Amino acid sequence: MIENYLNKIIEGDALEVMKDIPGNSIDMIITSPPYNVGMPYGTDDRKNYLDYLDYMKGVLTECYRVLITGGRIAINLPGSILQSSSSKIAYLSLDYVLIMRGIGFLDREWISWLKMPKGEIPEKSTAWGSWQSPSCPYLRDASEFIIIMDKESHKKPGDKNKIDITVKEFLQFTSNVWYMPPEKNRWHPAPFPEELPYRLIKLYTYQGDIILDPFVGWGTTCVVAKRLKRNYIGIDNNPEYCRMATIKIANETSLFEKD
Ligand SMILES: C[S@@+](CC[C@H](N)C(=O)[O-])C[C@H]1O[C@@H](n2cnc3c(N)ncnc32)[C@H](O)[C@@H]1O
Repeated sequence: MIENYLNKIIEGDALEVMKDIPGNSIDMIITSPPYNVGMPYGTDDRKNYLDYLDYMKGVLTECYRVLITGGRIAINLPGSILQSSSSKIAYLSLDYVLIMRGIGFLDREWISWLKMPKGEIPEKSTAWGSWQSPSCPYLRDASEFIIIMDKESHKKPGDKNKIDITVKEFLQFTSNVWYMPPEKNRWHPAPFPEELPYRLIKLYTYQGDIILDPFVGWGTTCVVAKRLKRNYIGIDNNPEYCRMATIKIANETSLFEKD
């Protein structure tokens, strides 16, 4: 029963945990997966690239199974990225889209997330590769993508009395370029800012919907979901991140509680 999973942070491997979640039960998945670039998450983030994609295909297949008809998935990914395991440059977003189409997801939107206004250079970042030489320069990461895909239908069922997006928000969030500064608090090595799940939840879900993040980190998606009167499920295989996520959520007052 999906009720057994609601409003919990579950410690475990995303693929294994998701296998037990009932099918056709989730309204929206919002996530930023590991990019396989050697981040210090405490597990192997430097797999062979094809093995990495194979694992993600398993997780994405589970994502498809658990979504309701009209349910959405939003994945935050970089464009091109240097895979530390092989020095292979990969168009990560493109590889994910091809896998997801193969699973059956329908194309919906491709949002550009600009981290710096007016193309400013990101602080404290370095472009590896050849220095001041056309030999092999790499570019700095000032933007990422948020790829949205649907299951079976582009229309999502819901109660119109449970819509909470304002006119101003709707006008702003329906642009396919979002400027949002990166999260400054770096207790977790790679969090996204609260603004990212906030916009997605407001634009694509109704109050009371169920939001799942299979790679929840320190809980950003779930904190915002609770704040916005949505149910949440978060999964992460790092016990410390799960502990921190649970504390953050406990400190978050839901709008339900404010009513
Ligand atoms: C990019 S971070 C997500 C950060 C999150 N959006 C936030 O704001 O905190 C990816 C997360 O995936 C987790 N992770 C990596 N491999 C995993 C796996 N096999 N199963 C579950 N979680 C995993 C890492 O511990 C990390 O917290």
